[in-house]
Amino acid sequence: MLMVPETVELPQIRLRRPRFSDATAILEYANDTEVARFADWPVGTTLERLQASLSDRAARWDAGEEYYWVITRPPEDTAIGGVSCMVAKHAAEVGFLLHRKHWGKGFATMACQAVADWALSEPSIWRVWATCDLDNRASVRVLEKAGFALEGVLRRFAVRPNLSTEPRDAFLYSRTRIAA
Ligand SMILES: CC(C)(COP(=O)(O)OP(=O)(O)OC[C@H]1O[C@@H](n2cnc3c(N)ncnc32)[C@H](O)[C@@H]1OP(=O)(O)O)[C@@H](O)C(=O)NCCC(=O)NCCS
Repeated sequence: MLMVPETVELPQIRLRRPRFSDATAILEYANDTEVARFADWPVGTTLERLQASLSDRAARWDAGEEYYWVITRPPEDTAIGGVSCMVAKHAAEVGFLLHRKHWGKGFATMACQAVADWALSEPSIWRVWATCDLDNRASVRVLEKAGFALEGVLRRFAVRPNLSTEPRDAFLYSRTRIAA
């Protein structure tokens, strides 16, 4: 049984479990073509679809399948991004995105590092991993700064619908537990 924190307070940002009411703030960055450039969903989502996805994420959290926190900047509690962690046996996959207005301040690195640190503090988790498109240089830097090491390239790994209909190559990065 994992001890999953519903809130993580960091010096500059807070990670917290999303609320249904976050959908409006999330919609603002989810449909930004720059934010969604390397995403695996097409831009043009609606408030209704986002609300449905928040309900789905709440169910996945309760089932222990995937944890997803919004990123906020206290004292404001508005969602400016999100970080996710999908756990399968001893491995956890992380993902992150941020409102463009807040890029370049280290927030995604802080969020990614905190979630990876938490995951690897769980005795049952040995591996934290992430993939990103070969052209997603900002994401590569986030993973490197958060302590992830490059494992290799997954060829024709994912379709990025906002770029092309063809599956594209992706980098595979991981952080692992060193000793028992
Ligand atoms: C990836 C993303 C989350 C980064 O968020 P962020 O808070 O700006 O990231 P950080 O500030 O922690 O670090 C960004 C790093 O990328 C670098 N960077 C940004 N754009 C870059 C580019 N085009 N080429 C090279 N490096 C770039 C920054 O200089 C910084 O590195 P540095 O600290 O060595 O200078 C944000 O750009 C985003 O939301 N992108 C869209 C969603 C996405 O692609 N998510 C990842 C899916 S795997």
